[in-house]
Amino acid sequence: MKGVILAGGLGTRLFPLTKITNKHLLPVYDRPMIYYPIETLVNAGVEDIMIVTGGRKSGDFLSLLGNGKDFGLKHLNYTYQEGEGGIAEALGLCAHWAAGEPVVVVLGDNLIERNIKSAVDQFRAQGKGGKILLKEVHDPERFGVATMEGERVARIVEKPREPESNLAVIGIYMYDARVFEIIKTLKPSDRGELEITDVNNWYIQDGSLTADVLEGWWTDAGTFQSLHHAAKLVAEGGANRMD
Ligand code: G1P
Repeated sequence: MKGVILAGGLGTRLFPLTKITNKHLLPVYDRPMIYYPIETLVNAGVEDIMIVTGGRKSGDFLSLLGNGKDFGLKHLNYTYQEGEGGIAEALGLCAHWAAGEPVVVVLGDNLIERNIKSAVDQFRAQGKGGKILLKEVHDPERFGVATMEGERVARIVEKPREPESNLAVIGIYMYDARVFEIIKTLKPSDRGELEITDVNNWYIQDGSLTADVLEGWWTDAGTFQSLHHAAKLVAEGGANRMD
């Protein structure tokens, strides 16, 4: 299982903080934002990691992270996303590197309290398809929102005006190697991006998407409010607990 961290984009929702640097290099309490998703993967036992970056100051990732020694890694991989083509486009850049292996993808601005190792292990055992993680939120219209039918996800709608549930699809996704073929078939959404929600809906149609509700807190950090909230959560209790 390989790990991908998506850390591109222009971070326009955080202007002017992101006018001269990449969102994922901004501090979240005592560490740069990108540290948290790396820890998330390492704690889950995923150590072959690709960082997709882009936009402003992409070279700074190399100066900051090097070969990942701070995380106990021997090596880190980097690739570059030109423009703002979306999460699925960024993932598509890893096709060659993934070389037929399944991947766990973490959005670079997503922080969690606890360990996703058991979900990753379950996905390994699942052997095929995809797996997503869900979390109840009070502002579902900001996210991809899942509608459940029993244990099964019936559909996901990206940033719905009238959400059918309060279950947000968090930015941690697991896919088999078919994901790279699926991405090639996607068309840009109204915001001009290849949407990860379209990938997830493909797996739903295929009948091979499983979903778990995440334990512990989760937040993104891509808006002023959520960045502040993330720092507070880390300061109060820490992120990426081992259990
Ligand atoms: C993205 C995804 C969305 C998901 C969210 C999690 O939104 O498109 O489905 O719920 O990440 O952070 P974005 O941050 O691109 O608006």
